[in-house]
Formats: sequence, structure tokens, C-alpha cells
Amino acid sequence: MAETPKSLARRPEWPSSVSRPVATPLQPSVVYSSPDPTALDKQYAEGTGYTYAREGHPNATVLAQKIDMLEGVEGGIVNGSGMAAVSTVLFGLLKSGDHVIGADQLYGRTLRLMTQDLPRFGIETTLADPTDAASFEAAIRPNTRMMIVEVVSNPTIRIADMEGIAKIANERGILLMVDNTFTTPRGYRPFDHGADIVVHSVTKLLAGHADATLGYAVAKDPALNEAIYIANTTFGMTASPFDCWLAERGLQTFEIRYDRAEATATTLAEALADVKGVKRVFHPSRNDHPDHNRALQILGNRPGNMLSIEIEGGRAAADAMTRAAPELPFAPTLGDVGTTLSHPASSSHRALTPEARADLGISEGFFRISVGLEDPDMLIAEFTKAITESQKV
Ligand SMILES: Cc1ncc(COP(=O)(O)O)c(C=O)c1O
Repeated sequence: MAETPKSLARRPEWPSSVSRPVATPLQPSVVYSSPDPTALDKQYAEGTGYTYAREGHPNATVLAQKIDMLEGVEGGIVNGSGMAAVSTVLFGLLKSGDHVIGADQLYGRTLRLMTQDLPRFGIETTLADPTDAASFEAAIRPNTRMMIVEVVSNPTIRIADMEGIAKIANERGILLMVDNTFTTPRGYRPFDHGADIVVHSVTKLLAGHADATLGYAVAKDPALNEAIYIANTTFGMTASPFDCWLAERGLQTFEIRYDRAEATATTLAEALADVKGVKRVFHPSRNDHPDHNRALQILGNRPGNMLSIEIEGGRAAADAMTRAAPELPFAPTLGDVGTTLSHPASSSHRALTPEARADLGISEGFFRISVGLEDPDMLIAEFTKAITESQKV
């Protein structure tokens, strides 16, 4: 039995038990007390145990180890958001005078880092077309230190030439960082294909319930991992224990959620292609996908849960479609248990000119769909109704 505390400000011994909790405990403590200075010294020297939550806590460890297992690597860390994961890698590994090549359709905030923030710190950047490895090769400079790629681009669902880019990066000694948020280790394992660093927005499919904002970053090389960890801790991009706890709980069902959402996305893509008012459907499973063969080669039979559609009509049709489907949250996220809809022209790509959007193939009628776990027939009926309504305006 734990002792009764003598003051409310004193913490009692945590009750011990020969049995253990089945669910992962949540440990929100900011700080950990050590038995004496020598023990604390030893803890720092050996990197064992916990001292201060910004430097690490049990819920982050448990979550990171599970994602490590999925990615087939060791030593990953959890960060306060997907962007914190990207930032810790860039600020932990790059220095003024380095050059980075990034895919030209990276997630919007990563693109912003590339085009506006890294240059402020004296890091040069170039954007290149990830579907064409030669464009990455052409962008290489003597000081190129890193390449950044997402396997599946957002929102046009193009498939990067991962094999080509990895070959060039590996041959030239350039670090290849893969943002594996869309594909997840269920769809693609970057370390099996020449990547040096992997990041995730754990917020999305891995946590899966739109209730935790988290990232994950890992490098194959332990020395790089150490630098990433130091940047994370120093810049204060640590994750909260509660978010880690939620995400680890969500992760327990990740594989079945992913499989189910992917199967539904494939069915939905097929059905929507026949709906009047739909101009195009983008899903790697489809024969008419511009990178269908590459998708088969890189993703095999794992086309993922993300698809995009383009409907006839401009903004008025897009407004009518979202209004006609109030049960499909029009919300800028992905990977939730519920299907969500996003409209890049008014959200992620609103800063681009209409011409720049047109170059990417993003019109006012373009929608990205993150397929969730609903009944596929219900989703088909809901989308069909909404698209049909959109064509009446
Ligand atoms: C591919 C990709 N990477 C990174 C991020 C950033 O993640 P977070 O919102 O958790 O910071 C996102 C967010 O949507 C994303 O889609």
C-alpha cells in the first residue's frame, strides 16, 4: 500500500501491484526526481531514464518505438506536429551554405520552409519535379546536402520516381528524406528503398482520429538521429504526453483502419468515375492514373486511402457540392476515421495564382478526399447525391 501523504503538496509513492495495467498508462509528469546527483549524472551520461519531459517521456518513447517497428528502424523520436518533425530534421542536420532540393508539390508548409524560411538561415533551396528523377539530378550543386520527397503528392496524387531519386541521392552521397505521411509504412517503407531519413505527420493516418497533433522523425544513421533529437529538444518541439497517449491508442488499430480505408477508396474511385459531372478521378489503383505503372512498381497493391476528383463547373459547383454533403466534413485534414473533403483552390493552394494552380491541374472543381471507415455504399450514395446537386447550379 502507498503511504498516506503528510502534505497535499507532497507526492505519494505510486501504488505498486504485482499485476500490470493492460492499457498504456498516461504519464503527464513534466519532471522526474532522481535518487541523488551521482545517479542523475549517470542518467545523463548513459542517456537512460527520464529527467524533464521536453527531453523525453514514457508516452513518447512507447509511441516512437511502435512507429520504429513499422518503419523497420530504431531510434525515432516523436515531435509536437508533423511540421515539427520536418523542422527538427532540417534545422538539426543542415547549416548555412548547404543546398536542399525539394519536390515541387510538397505539403504547403514544407514548401514554405523551403522557399521562405531556410533561405533566411543561409540555406539554398531548389524545387524539382519528383515524377522526373532527371530534374532532381539537374538541380544538384556541389553543396547539395539533402533531397526531400513525398511518395504521393498532395493533392494531385502523383507518384514520385522514388527508385530514380534514391539512386541519384545514394550515388552522390546526398541525404534522402521521405515524408511518408500519405503512404504510411503500410504502403511504402522508405528505408527498404534507399531513404536516409523518414518523417511523418502522425496527426494523420497513424494516430487516425483527428484528436492528436504529432510528428515522427528518424534517420538510419544513429549520429544523425542524435542531431535530430538535440534539435527537437533545443527548439522545444517535443510532443505532449496526452497526444502521444492518444496516438499510441489510435495506432493499435492503424493496420486494419488503413486496409479498410484503402479498399473503400478503391471502390469509391471506381464508382465516382461513372457519376455524371465527374471529369476525372485520381487514385493510383486506376488504369487512367498518369503514374499507374509507377504506382504498381512502387506501391504494389497498396494504392492508399487518398483520392482526388475534378467535377465540372467552377466555384459555384464546388460550393453546391460541399453544401449538399453536410455529413462529409469539409475540413483540411486527412487520415481520420471519418471521410473528409478538402478543396485545394480555397485552402492549401489558395496562395497560388489561378494559372499556377492550373499548371498543377488544380481547378475550382478539384477536391481531395481522405477516405475513412464508413460503409462504402453510403459514401458512394452521398458523393453521387452531392455531385448531382453540384451540376444543377
Ligand atoms: C504530407 C504532410 N506532411 C506534413 C504535414 C504537417 O503535419 P502537421 O499538420 O501534423 O504539422 C502534413 C499536414 O497535412 C502533410 O499532409
